Amino acid sequence: MFQLYRSFAARLGRAFLPGRPPRHAQAMELANTVERLREQVDELRQAHVRMEFALRSAHASPWEYDHRSGELLLSGSWDAGRGQAPARSRTSFSALVDSLPPGDREQGRALLDAVLNGLRDECSLEQRIEAADASVRWVLWHGRVVERHPLTGRALRMIGISMDITDRKRAEQLADAEKSRTARSLELSRVLLTLAEQDVSPIGRFLQVATEAAAQALQVERAGIWLQEDGGKGLVCRDLYRASDASHEQGFTVDAQVHARYFAALAEGEPMSATDTVRDSGMGDLFPGGRAPRGAASTLDAPMRLGARLLGVIRLERAHGDEGWSEEDRQFAQTLARMVAHAVADSERNEAQRMGTALFYHSPAGTAFVGDQRVLLMCNERMEQMFGYAQGELKGQCDRVLYHSDEQWLSHADVFGAAAGSQEREAQMRVKSGESIWVLMRGRPIEAGPKGSSTLISYTDITVRKRAEQALEQLNHDLGKRALQRARALTQSEARFGVVIAEAPVGIAILRDECITEANPRLCSLLGYERVDLIGRPLAQFSHAQGRADDPAAPLPDRAAVETRYRHRSGRDVWAHVRVSVLPGRPGEKVHRVVVVEDITERRKADQQLREYASHVSALSGRLLAAQEEERRQLSRELHDEIGQVLTAVRMVLVPPRSDSGRPALGEPWYLARSVVDDAIVRVRTMSMNLRPPVLDDLGLLPAVRELCNRHRELARMAVDLETLGDLAQLPSDLVVTLYRVCQEALTNVSRHARASRVEVRLGVSEGQAVLIVRDNGVGFDPESAAAAGRLGIVGMRERVKARGGTLDVDSQPGRGTALMVLFRLAEPPGAYSSGSINPLRTA
Ligand SMILES: Nc1ncnc2c1ncn2[C@@H]1O[C@H](COP(=O)(O)OP(=O)(O)OP(=O)(O)O)[C@@H](O)[C@H]1O
Ligand SMILES: [Mg+2]
Repeated sequence: MFQLYRSFAARLGRAFLPGRPPRHAQAMELANTVERLREQVDELRQAHVRMEFALRSAHASPWEYDHRSGELLLSGSWDAGRGQAPARSRTSFSALVDSLPPGDREQGRALLDAVLNGLRDECSLEQRIEAADASVRWVLWHGRVVERHPLTGRALRMIGISMDITDRKRAEQLADAEKSRTARSLELSRVLLTLAEQDVSPIGRFLQVATEAAAQALQVERAGIWLQEDGGKGLVCRDLYRASDASHEQGFTVDAQVHARYFAALAEGEPMSATDTVRDSGMGDLFPGGRAPRGAASTLDAPMRLGARLLGVIRLERAHGDEGWSEEDRQFAQTLARMVAHAVADSERNEAQRMGTALFYHSPAGTAFVGDQRVLLMCNERMEQMFGYAQGELKGQCDRVLYHSDEQWLSHADVFGAAAGSQEREAQMRVKSGESIWVLMRGRPIEAGPKGSSTLISYTDITVRKRAEQALEQLNHDLGKRALQRARALTQSEARFGVVIAEAPVGIAILRDECITEANPRLCSLLGYERVDLIGRPLAQFSHAQGRADDPAAPLPDRAAVETRYRHRSGRDVWAHVRVSVLPGRPGEKVHRVVVVEDITERRKADQQLREYASHVSALSGRLLAAQEEERRQLSRELHDEIGQVLTAVRMVLVPPRSDSGRPALGEPWYLARSVVDDAIVRVRTMSMNLRPPVLDDLGLLPAVRELCNRHRELARMAVDLETLGDLAQLPSDLVVTLYRVCQEALTNVSRHARASRVEVRLGVSEGQAVLIVRDNGVGFDPESAAAAGRLGIVGMRERVKARGGTLDVDSQPGRGTALMVLFRLAEPPGAYSSGSINPLRTA
């Protein structure tokens, strides 16, 4: 400032030099001049004060540059601005340039060079400096050249101010940030607007456009739209756009059950993010450990909701950086999610509408929209066909044309209109040709649209069913009549049946769950009880404790006939033949059983007597046989020992008389007598043999049987093969005689009837059994018819064997030979028996 002042005074002094006026005038002029100068000085002082005030107010401080000294002289306020104690300080332009940030130095130096070298008169430089409190501040250097070298034009002096422009700079930065944010918001809004104008159909294409737009707007690597699966099972990725290769994928799933917490967080509706450092409870569930999915540094999930309904989620994934998601990003994602949710819902609605329209027109049931005044607004093809109208012919007509009568038409008025609920009616209607049909109508009111309210009516032709119902009704009526007749007939038949049961000569009980529900008089008398005493009690209760071989209290087997014993009320036994049958009933019904009880006590008694009689007869027959045998034995002995001896003695005294020639004379009477005596001797011997061979008593069974065989071999001229086994001598004498007699009769039968060439006789004792087998290869016979023929041979054999406790089997067929087998079980198996055995099947 003082420099300025000095130059001004110098210029003022030069104004006095040219031309010199007179002294008084000069003095006056001088006084005026001094006065003016004083005023000017005052003005200057005031201007200086104002300037200083202005500079202070503007946080500016003046500076001055002097080329000759090369110094830049800074005022004290400069230091005060930098947070230091005010002091005048000096610096240089090159130091000032060096203090600039490296990037700005080049430009700063060029600017100063231009000013100092006369290319520019003014310059402005902004410098960032560090204040004493370490805060960063901005300073503006503004200067002007006030003196230049007249020849070189180089600046000799410059003056200027330096100002702290930190606040302005910050405001500018804020404004810049605001500007860029606004620009970004605008860009995001533009993207959303563009999307809003997009056609949502087909929805797949729309989703692709949305993911691409989202990826570009937020500069993310992946953007995906995941929609809820039907039935709420989870999410399915409908489109996943990958920015690096501009590809689209789909089909990934997220299971709602596995990630229940993630789904719960989605339901809250707020966007949520997952980065390496940020953890969200829902996202943590989806990405354990809070880490974003592979290949993504951070994700942002914005739920797509429509009211309370969660439609899906939009997921944005950044590949790099971990700066997180700004508020704009979140808002954009949320708005986009809302927009896509609406689009998806619209598309669902469109689809439903499309399907509804298709359903209406192609429905197999006749369908129509009926509007005010019951005008047919729309009719489908099926309905037109059902009523016999051409396509479009019914449209616009009143539905009165469809009805059979006015009354019916009027009675259906309540089916139509918005007030009516869902209704169902059957009506007799009329087709175009006049024929009547039965129709089932179902009405459903439709919300009022631009054309007013309407009712959706479906018409189903039920003529066939109706006619069937009518026929059925008729049938029911007829059946009812017939059932009545049948019931009457049944009552009569039941009455007859009742009489039959009441009069039946056998006891009859009807059981249900084994308890008597009905009992006829015969059963009552059979058991000795009144009917009322029997009803309700189990029949088994009246069984004798030893009535049945199995459990007497067990239910009688179905459809079986058993003999059982009941106990009469008086305590006596009643033997009964019981037959059980099951009454056929309806499925699921309890079974009724009919028990027919026949009193067989008398028959059982007769049987018992018969059995006792038979055993007596058998014992008697045994005794008779034994007596007969004894008699035969004695007779045989007497014949042999007495008569035989007498005849032998007679034979010996019948010596022929000698003739003259010394030769016996033939034809003499003593010759005749001797031949008669010889014949008698043979006959007596044979008789004795047949009655009872002495050898049997003298030598035993085997020699006797062997002799028997020899005799038959000679008599019948057939091969007789005898084979024996074991020690026959051990057999008791009664068995010996029985076996001999059976063998004798069997061989006699073979000789007499078989016409056999060979017969085998097997006789033995083995393993506690005595066995006799006689087998021939003769003509055979039918044992059944032979038994009926009244012959005694086989019958006698059987009697004998039976009397000794054995069994006899005859196995024969005509043409196949005969085998007879006798078997006795011995009381104690003799230990000395042979180890061999007799095999009845062994062939001869
Ligand atoms: N081995 C046999 N081969 C063929 N037929 C036989 C044989 N044994 C018995 N029969 C037939 O069985 C019948 C009955 O025999 P059975 O011994 O009971 O009576 P029978 O020999 O005729 O007379 P008898 O009372 O004198 O014995 C015989 O008449 C004969 O026809
Ligand atoms: Mg015989």
